[in-house]
Amino acid sequence: MSIETQISGISVKVYSTSSDASEAVANEITQEITTRDHCVLGLATGGTPVDCYQRLVERHRNSGLSFADVTTFNLDEYIGLAADHPQSYRAFMQAQLFDHVDVRRERTWIPSGVAEDVSLECTTYESRIREAGGIDLQLLGLGHNGHIAFNEPGSPLESRTRQVELTPETIQKNARFFADDESVPRHAITMGIATILEARRIVMLVTGSSKAAAVSAMVEGPVGVECPASLLRNHPQVQLIVDEAAAAKLDVS
Ligand code: PGA
Repeated sequence: MSIETQISGISVKVYSTSSDASEAVANEITQEITTRDHCVLGLATGGTPVDCYQRLVERHRNSGLSFADVTTFNLDEYIGLAADHPQSYRAFMQAQLFDHVDVRRERTWIPSGVAEDVSLECTTYESRIREAGGIDLQLLGLGHNGHIAFNEPGSPLESRTRQVELTPETIQKNARFFADDESVPRHAITMGIATILEARRIVMLVTGSSKAAAVSAMVEGPVGVECPASLLRNHPQVQLIVDEAAAAKLDVS
């Protein structure tokens, strides 16, 4: 069961459960891969997309969904963590998706967390996206404070891939994954808001009651840098796919 509506120019689909919402996002990604030659996907890390990635892996195993012709660009990476560090976003993507499907490793792009020249790494990342023809479908999650990727409140609309400082809140949230506080990364490379807004389509998945206020701020609050996700309202093709818990503070609910 789902409810579909438009709020502030964003197509909002509300599903009863987080599983149903993840299934809907897996359907969007599958459709993009199967209908477009040389599909370019923008991918996200975090707890939210894990179920969706599992569904894509199952479809690869059981229904022959092929990633052989797909190129991927991830949103962000921690500075200081090499690809083989267990908490790197590269390691996350390998474990959750890439190791289990037929995507070619050399077509899976994630900013390097150990680049000697970070600003060169950022501009090269932007060029690689352009050379690949731009992102067809960008998958996004939503932070409790309205962040998208590591674009925290205050990130400019025109921001591109760059080094950012993690907020104390994010550092604290991450501390549980590291041996001690000292090893928690303080910086990251993230695609910027302008980079994200250049994707042809954006699909955001948000689940759980703890995100309800952020969802409401994104679609019903003011558009501005204080809520980076609200800036997606400047994009013509955004789908917001949520479960009932995450939609609880929307008027539609
Ligand atoms: P989460 O992170 O999926 O782990 O909640 C989303 C985000 O902060 O962008």
